[in-house]
Amino acid sequence: MKEKTEKNLGALGAEVSTEFPVKEMIDQAFDAMTRAYTPYSGFKVGAALLAADGTLYQGCNIENAAYTPSNCAERTAFFKAVSQGVKDFKAICIVGGKEGIPTGLTAPCGVCRQVMMEFCDPETFRIILAAGREEYQIFSLKELLPMGFGPDNL
Ligand code: THU
Repeated sequence: MKEKTEKNLGALGAEVSTEFPVKEMIDQAFDAMTRAYTPYSGFKVGAALLAADGTLYQGCNIENAAYTPSNCAERTAFFKAVSQGVKDFKAICIVGGKEGIPTGLTAPCGVCRQVMMEFCDPETFRIILAAGREEYQIFSLKELLPMGFGPDNL
């Protein structure tokens, strides 16, 4: 995997340094989105989660006829990694759109942000929201979940 350093402006205007393969993550998120199981909403989401050792874990949303057992793409990726003993993460890339066609950025739902809070440092964990290979924005978890409640609070 080719490592790449890019500079981006975070949502709050602060410069965010990203020392991870952004383009590869976007590609993998788009690839995961093709496997989304969405017979009910038709809204497909793909995620690519970068572990500290450089491994990428893909995730897609998986819906259910009973609705509430549905799982978001981000949590699929996290739970795959954690179930394999991996708990250190650097970043996640998320893409989404009706029938798999992005019309803008897809931000993680509140439940997924809370799962990120369990395993990631909100200051350093990066969330890449992409609508295309050249169209993306990078946020810190702290920006998307200010004053989050996590393991350090207990
Ligand atoms: N969804 C995700 O997979 N991730 C998000 O962060 C937002 C929502 C999924 C859940 C459901 O299958 C569909 O998108 C519509 O809400």
